Amino acid sequence: MNITVLGTGYVGLVTGACLAEIGNHVVCYDPDRRKIDVLESGGMPIHERQLPEVVARNVQAGRLRFTTEIEPAVRHGDIVFIATGTPADQDGSADLQYVLAAARSIGRHMQGYKVVVQKSTVPVGTASKVRQAIEDELAARRTEGDAAAGSSEQVFPVGIVSNPEFLKEGSAVDDFMRPDRIVIGTGPGEAGQRARDLMTQLYAPFNRQRERILYMDLNAAELTKYAANAMLATRISFMNELANLADKVGVDIEQVRKGIGSDPRIGYSFLYPGVGYGGSCFPKDVQALVRTAADHGQRLQVLEAVRAVNDAQKHVLFEKIVARFGDDLHGRTFALWGLAFKPNTDDMREAPSRVMIRALVERGAAVVAYDPVAMTEAKRVLALDFADSAELLRRVYYAPSPMQAVEDADALVIVTEWTAFKSPDFHALKSALKQPVIFDGRNLYDPDIRAQGFEYMAIGR
Ligand code: UDX
Repeated sequence: MNITVLGTGYVGLVTGACLAEIGNHVVCYDPDRRKIDVLESGGMPIHERQLPEVVARNVQAGRLRFTTEIEPAVRHGDIVFIATGTPADQDGSADLQYVLAAARSIGRHMQGYKVVVQKSTVPVGTASKVRQAIEDELAARRTEGDAAAGSSEQVFPVGIVSNPEFLKEGSAVDDFMRPDRIVIGTGPGEAGQRARDLMTQLYAPFNRQRERILYMDLNAAELTKYAANAMLATRISFMNELANLADKVGVDIEQVRKGIGSDPRIGYSFLYPGVGYGGSCFPKDVQALVRTAADHGQRLQVLEAVRAVNDAQKHVLFEKIVARFGDDLHGRTFALWGLAFKPNTDDMREAPSRVMIRALVERGAAVVAYDPVAMTEAKRVLALDFADSAELLRRVYYAPSPMQAVEDADALVIVTEWTAFKSPDFHALKSALKQPVIFDGRNLYDPDIRAQGFEYMAIGR
């Protein structure tokens, strides 16, 4: 099939590359010339496991192309995916300007029937706005006498589909190639059926051993995506609050995690307490869903609490540092392991490390940070975070290895659970640190390291 993907961010690039991988001819469009230049010259604008290989293989095979030209891009695809960004507006709702601009471009340049698939996470009701934007452009073209824009008798020149993604950064290619479910939301009637049939054909290679496709209404598909992320975020905030209680009552939260996770109704995943969730999805989607509800006169009180707990959780480890070292951290140096919001990515969006770094340097401390891949991105993001307080940023240093970061530091602070941090040489660590103090925001170690002379502060243990 011929596929077009509008937007080459995480979602767009992974979608395009993986659909090419199964034999489709894919054109990925982005208005950002620099991004397309990087991709065309064999580079990668994001850090994502397996993606460079999949992209290279399919470019080589002639199944994957990149372009900044919208008109041929739109004409190419029988199916056109919209995978543009939906940043949070000032009031927390999703900003749809890029999605709707993509929809207008489709209406302006399409020559025949297309299925338009909404991949970006968008509020309930966006599909009808997308349809309207396309219809408006087609109507304008018809007024101009453009025969290729169809006739006014045509009821649905486009099929609209909502097909949210459930990709996790760091395993996005795997998640796409081995989905646990494929949600396809379509409109009613024959037009909906036609779009559904084409989508079923497209996803057939991912749907072999068992039925993974869930067909539903457009609005239900849109809400499913938010509901999934909101549910996962809720589990995390729930566990974070419980971990804070565990600290107070002298319980190891890890024992409780296993104790409840073994109940199949609860399950083990997304029950890890830590320094709060970050990334491009959970914070934004929780906020947007609260906003959508407010627009309909409803409060989502559980999610309001999920968000508040998460904001507070990003400070919990720092509070432990202050409890140990006091309010004034001048003259202290802290080694920071991990910058990315989670392992296997260089993504710094809403990363808890940013809150930690700011808190430390504002109290006068110096920070020596190490991250296996996110240091370049961290430098870029922190320069913006500290744009009006550059003197604070001068207290942030970067080390070329985890062990060099801890050299002569007052304590080690862990905020991202990279595999490289999971079994360090504790002897070396002890002799490198000024004093053997570890603040572990990801509960990586057995609390028994206390018996080896470490002061070990973790989350709920
Ligand atoms: C998430 C969803 O998982 C994915 O389905 C959706 O498409 C996009 O949003 P992602 O943001 O890539 O994916 O990361 P994820 O692995 O879900 O982690 C999100 C955040 O939650 C991270 O900051 C992580 O550290 C935190 N987390 C996760 C916890 O604190 N505890 C856990 O048990 C799990």
